Amino acid sequence: MAIRKIARMGHEILKGIANPITDPTAPEFTRLAQDLIDTCEDIGGNGIAAPQVYEPVRMFVYRVRKEVMPVGAKMAEIPWTVVINPKITPLTDEKKAYWERCLSLPGLYGQVRRFTKIRFEAVGLDGAGITITAHRFHARLLQHEYDHLQGQLLLKQLKRKVRKEALKEISIKGFPGDKI
Ligand code: NI
Repeated sequence: MAIRKIARMGHEILKGIANPITDPTAPEFTRLAQDLIDTCEDIGGNGIAAPQVYEPVRMFVYRVRKEVMPVGAKMAEIPWTVVINPKITPLTDEKKAYWERCLSLPGLYGQVRRFTKIRFEAVGLDGAGITITAHRFHARLLQHEYDHLQGQLLLKQLKRKVRKEALKEISIKGFPGDKI
């Protein structure tokens, strides 16, 4: 078990396109996946992508717990799931806005528009393919983590005015919890 340091907005590692993983079954990726789970579990998060722990590869882990689902959501909980080399295909034109937060932007919430239904393809640590159709909250979470592999943070998805306000807030106060 290893809890890794989480990169925060502004760090170069969060801005690059992460590299495809050629051998998902290699032991180093099993270790990385466990570190991602341990790190995310420790901070009570729902998902974390490898670049957020300074590893520029196309992997993320996520889970869906009852307590974080929007009120009235009918989906089942999803245990920790490891995905490698994911691909997202929107299955609708519809996008909805909802509040999101990110471990690399501690203390901030932003409303982000996401596709409400997607096809999600990836491989697991055993190298086997995963293909699912994800809706609403599940789809949102997958799109959020996928963006990390593309070097994008949720701030980029915010409306310009909101983004400006958020950046102003960060530059004046620093991230909440930061020691000066
Ligand atoms: Ni994030």
